[in-house]
Amino acid sequence: MRLDIYYYFLVVLCSIFTFGIFFTMIYLAAKYRKIEGVDRPSVPLESLVLELTWTIIPFFMLLGLFFWGTWLYADYLNEPEGGVEIDVVAKQWMWKVQHSNGSREVNDLHVPVGRPIKLTMTSQDVLHDYYIPVMRVKQDVVPGRFTRLWFEATKTGEFHIFCAEYCGTEHSYMIGTVTVMTQEDYALWLEGGPKKSPQEAGEFLFTQMGCITCHSGRKDARGPDLNGIFGAEVTLTTGDPFTRDEEYLRESIMESTKKIVDGYTPLMPSFKNQLTDEDVMNLIAYVKSLKGESE
Ligand code: CUA
Repeated sequence: MRLDIYYYFLVVLCSIFTFGIFFTMIYLAAKYRKIEGVDRPSVPLESLVLELTWTIIPFFMLLGLFFWGTWLYADYLNEPEGGVEIDVVAKQWMWKVQHSNGSREVNDLHVPVGRPIKLTMTSQDVLHDYYIPVMRVKQDVVPGRFTRLWFEATKTGEFHIFCAEYCGTEHSYMIGTVTVMTQEDYALWLEGGPKKSPQEAGEFLFTQMGCITCHSGRKDARGPDLNGIFGAEVTLTTGDPFTRDEEYLRESIMESTKKIVDGYTPLMPSFKNQLTDEDVMNLIAYVKSLKGESE
């Protein structure tokens, strides 16, 4: 809110000067047109008073803006006590998030309303920039360094996350959603929701871990459509034919770049230390249940 006031103030101030200067230019150009034949008085070449005026006034205006902006920024750097600590790791081209109890998600960020949310962020490869416009926060995510970002949501809902630093081909796909939930819902979400069958649990993980982002089944998806892949024959990048069985699915989740199907690049992150054996079995149960038509 305070940032918005600052921002609008800047817009109004700049508009006043821009339009003021342009109107004066046009007015004077018209007034002293040659055709009007107006008497152009001999212009004084120097005016100390005038020059001091248009130096000193803008100087203090800009200095005022500087202190106002610095004060807002310094205040932002002063993190509130407590709150929720969350880790974020950026990678071309996804956001991996880990909550304090070990729950993970990719691209999505689930947070409770009304509490300070504090992110500790780093990058696995190049410079990225975590940007949540609606929270008025944006912070570079730098390889080999931790950066911090915090915000406090005031209402529930789903909001955009962007990467705001050009980081390669799919920079514009490096987007996500912040889901602001009530504190009770967030606690439930952290617990992983009510107990489910392996297939349902797998489906939940599939969304929670962000698998769905790449394996959406859409034409422009980064990863293969998983419908009907179980038991299907494929050709690997090595040229070998291969049947996708359970062991292949497990390996593809844990050591995702080991066997790549022809036509795809090894983009997928490894989930080796992120999933328990049970999680993997649940995910496989879910993938096996996908019987729709593959594109
Ligand atoms: Cu990551 Cu742009």
